[in-house]
Amino acid sequence: MERLDWLLHWLKETSFATAIRENASLFPWLESVHVLAVAVVIGTIALIELRLIGVTSLNRPVSRVLKDVLPVTWGGFGLATLSGFLLFSSNAPTYAHNTFFLMKAAMLAAAGLNAFAFHTFTARSLPRWDTAASTPVQAKLSGVLSLVMWVGIVACGRWVGFTLVPTP
Ligand code: HEM
Repeated sequence: MERLDWLLHWLKETSFATAIRENASLFPWLESVHVLAVAVVIGTIALIELRLIGVTSLNRPVSRVLKDVLPVTWGGFGLATLSGFLLFSSNAPTYAHNTFFLMKAAMLAAAGLNAFAFHTFTARSLPRWDTAASTPVQAKLSGVLSLVMWVGIVACGRWVGFTLVPTP
């Protein structure tokens, strides 16, 4: 734990973290990039989940939707992670002790596991239901779970800024 605290303080004192913390416009610019990247991630994930749940793109094979949309999702996710890390670095010890930040991190991990389980197990039988409007119950469940988790991630992300308690 002491080692982690040391690492968080070291990160906060790096030149880029100090610049983000002390410059009046760097943090808002980075947060703008973060929000735009987050919008891309959630928007594209919603396209996939709504197809799985059976709401939109019902005339398109699931594999086609995945192939078209996932590269954009990954691009957005990379940008969200990079901008999020830079925002985090500016006050790493404070963020790391914030309950909503920790909940957001836990839900990000859970959303990742859910996506991994879908691609590894549920999508094994994809050729059988690829073009069907109605997908198997596991696929629907994975879609609903994913949407709920992403809403939770966004809500926790918004809450962070209102609940920060500075740490020494
Ligand atoms: C794609 C995944 C992510 C989503 C959906 C997400 C969502 C959000 C949202 C909605 C906000 C609030 C923006 C605002 O109030 O204007 C936010 C802020 C923030 N995010 Fe993320 N985020 C993601 C990934 C990350 C990652 C990976 C990190 C850290 C490594 C991170 C760190 C932060 C920080 C430090 C803030 C600023 C909190 C503040 O002081 O207000 N985010 N995020």
